[in-house]
Amino acid sequence: MMEDFVKYVQKLYGTKDFIPMHEPRFWGNEQKYVADCIESTFVSSVGKYVNRFEELCAEYTGVKYAIATVNGTAALHVALLLSGVETGDEVITQPLTFIATANAISYCNAKPVFLDVDKATMGLSDVKLEKFLIENTEIRKDGFCYNKKTGNRIKACVLMHTFGHPVKIDKIVEICKRWNIELIEDAAESLGSKYQNKHTGTFGKFGILSFNGNKTITTGGGGMILTDDEELAKEAKHITTTGKIPHKWEYVHDVRAFNYRMPNLNAALGCAQIEQLDFFIAQKRKLFNKYQDFFKNTDIDIFAEPENSFANYWLQVVVLKNRKERDNFLEYTNSNGVMTRPIWQLLNKSKMYKNSITDDLVNAQWFEDRVVNISSSVIKNL
Ligand SMILES: Cc1ncc(COP(=O)(O)O)c(C=O)c1O
Repeated sequence: MMEDFVKYVQKLYGTKDFIPMHEPRFWGNEQKYVADCIESTFVSSVGKYVNRFEELCAEYTGVKYAIATVNGTAALHVALLLSGVETGDEVITQPLTFIATANAISYCNAKPVFLDVDKATMGLSDVKLEKFLIENTEIRKDGFCYNKKTGNRIKACVLMHTFGHPVKIDKIVEICKRWNIELIEDAAESLGSKYQNKHTGTFGKFGILSFNGNKTITTGGGGMILTDDEELAKEAKHITTTGKIPHKWEYVHDVRAFNYRMPNLNAALGCAQIEQLDFFIAQKRKLFNKYQDFFKNTDIDIFAEPENSFANYWLQVVVLKNRKERDNFLEYTNSNGVMTRPIWQLLNKSKMYKNSITDDLVNAQWFEDRVVNISSSVIKNL
């Protein structure tokens, strides 16, 4: 079976050379826009491309405001700060995510609380979230939610749409509202994915995107903060651009801020990439159908988009029978020129977060033992 899989992927990609898991595709106006950007000399934090890329991202996702950042991690950091996360707060998230999610929480001197994921989505479970809040927290006189055991305030919740599969977000929106917890969506992996026809990243107070080289579209490195709140959008722009008060010549900065703005040069690449986003997603969905046919009569399952969702199928996901089968599959494919990768080790197992609060994490552990990402680069003719 594994031999057949390697042959199948080689046939799909038309090569017997090494096949990476996700390569960027520069099939549009990339050269033209980047050359134009260089020509203009505006290659840094000011220029028409960075403004245009913000507008295009806002339009595509259906939010009022999009603020471009140097990467997705910086976008998350700012989203957490502007949600009011302070030193000593707890922030609920899932252990099954890229390390950046937890790191951004810790940049705010807050502590991540890792709750289990949903078997149907691989993202934060609304059921486990509600259970945790009922059993462990109370709303105090100041109106905020507190962890009864630690006495810490639970200020925010960051959920993540794993590999582009939307979580059951409507339920989580409602739960967070009831407990007065700010909701942030880490939509780094889910540009183009929708839940009930609404774009991921647009349900909470903030959403964030990543345009890292391995994402559905890339700016080399880059991120985006999404919000519908005008005041917060202004603040986000201000603290990602060193907190400088606009003036013809004076250098006056009114907050301790960040140099987090995406350079115009990167945004030029993004403007060209976003023109091809719908095509990339269409091809990724076709690739999923091909894999679904291939795995039909095997003992490997392919992970399909959850109910009420439209997934971008950023990385294709297969689920093996157990950890041993997973390791055999990883060993065989990586030794035979087809790059595959396991899902992340649960973040509560990493050295920095090993003393974090968690619930039972049964589903998260189940996925850690079984999930493998397989070749997912866009193929032009499928
Ligand atoms: C879930 C998730 N969150 C955050 C990030 C961070 O984005 P960046 O690499 O642009 O900082 C990534 C990916 O890189 C991610 O996959």
